[in-house]
Amino acid sequence: MSAPLEIKPADGKLGVLLPGMGAVATTFIAGVLAGRKGLTQLHGSLTQSGRIRLGKRTEQRNPLIKDFVPLAGLDDLVFGGWDPIPENAYRAALTAGVLDDRQLEPIRAELEAIEPMTAVFDKEYVRLLDGTHVKQGETKLDLARQLMDDIDRFRIDNACDRLVMVWCGSTEVYREPGAVHQSLEAFEHGLKTNDPEIAPSQIYAYAALSMGVPYANGAPNITVDTPALLELAVREGLPVSGKDYKTGQTLIKTILAPGLKARMLGVDGWFSTNILGNRDGEVLDDPGSFRSKEVSKLGALEHIFQPDQYPDLYGDLYHKVRINYYPPRGDNKEGWDNIDIFGWMGYPMQIKVNFLCRDSILAAPLVLDLALYMDLARRAGKAGIQEWLSFYYKSPQVAEGLYPEHDLFIQQIKLKNTLRHWMGEELITHLGSEYYED
Ligand SMILES: NC(=O)c1ccc[n+]([C@@H]2O[C@H](COP(=O)([O-])OP(=O)(O)OC[C@H]3O[C@@H](n4cnc5c(N)ncnc54)[C@H](O)[C@@H]3O)[C@@H](O)[C@H]2O)c1
Repeated sequence: MSAPLEIKPADGKLGVLLPGMGAVATTFIAGVLAGRKGLTQLHGSLTQSGRIRLGKRTEQRNPLIKDFVPLAGLDDLVFGGWDPIPENAYRAALTAGVLDDRQLEPIRAELEAIEPMTAVFDKEYVRLLDGTHVKQGETKLDLARQLMDDIDRFRIDNACDRLVMVWCGSTEVYREPGAVHQSLEAFEHGLKTNDPEIAPSQIYAYAALSMGVPYANGAPNITVDTPALLELAVREGLPVSGKDYKTGQTLIKTILAPGLKARMLGVDGWFSTNILGNRDGEVLDDPGSFRSKEVSKLGALEHIFQPDQYPDLYGDLYHKVRINYYPPRGDNKEGWDNIDIFGWMGYPMQIKVNFLCRDSILAAPLVLDLALYMDLARRAGKAGIQEWLSFYYKSPQVAEGLYPEHDLFIQQIKLKNTLRHWMGEELITHLGSEYYED
């Protein structure tokens, strides 16, 4: 057992800043507003419903996570954001079409009061959106400074004690990190000289980290997964995490694949296709944005199956992912997986999964948990990559040279053991031999 970390208390208001006030962000805000009025249950959120076992099984200590670690309470959250589309959170929620009027009406006034700030937006990075509510500036550094002013104003106007930023904006086009991302010095020079390789999401992250605000990345954009912004995060003692919320098909994949691997069942092919009709689907219809998503979605299986170590079982795995924009479905995505597996003596079998999910209903609780855990990490004095939050991401950000853990169950153990460790509780190894010794 180690001594507990010194974690500052979660006193005062926590501002949750959301670049991107579309389907996920408004579903998240609406859920919290309704939840704290007692109008709804916040299922899907580990911080709100999850329990954590402490000590031996015989001790019967299973507190709620929110009673075990000092998290900000729902009543202390305030919300702000930016969007290139000038709709308040109520109008944006109607546009997103995730929640029905019955749910929105009791919180309408509060949602209407949340107006997006003007965005840092560049059509080169999100080609299928036309933004009108956009900041103007000579250089990218000017834009970053405007965001810093927004952050400061928000903090003062809302009397916030602390802030976190959680990216809920569109997926940007795929770009490998370039020379400008290799150091903070190069990045700051690039901001002054308008380097085209600096994406809007990176300008938000730079502004957040410069203002002492942790940054969580819900999209596959590289953003803080670059040496430059990591250097800034570490210098400022701030936590960062990413990338891309793990919902829908990838969630199911990282539940199923570890089970097949645990039983040493081989996999020849895994074909995944989706139809979805929300704005995210429309943005992903652009090959550049789709490529970012594809890279993020493809990694999971390879890391879980380890084909280099199990070439007979997974060496020839054919993995394909498709996303098809199909407007009639709106946010209600439908995903199909066809999994060709084989077992004893090579006999083939098939698994079909047809998941009729609701994208933003699955993503909203992750935004809440990430906001609360990033704030906790900040108060616990943790800087840089928070790998223990891999549980929430499709493409977990890890230290250079490490492979990411994609297995949901390993990720869950990692998360809970991190909380036990921080609070000075014994780690749980599941060895259990003590129950059988005199
Ligand atoms: N819903 C899910 O299950 C899920 C899962 C993983 C990742 N994501 C990612 O979360 C993000 C949000 O998803 P969504 O369904 O809410 O999409 P959405 O299209 O409804 O919302 C995104 C919002 O971001 C805004 N935006 C675009 N560029 C911006 C910028 N530079 N600054 C500020 N705002 C900007 C858009 O105008 C839009 O309102 C997307 O990147 C998506 O890929 C969603």
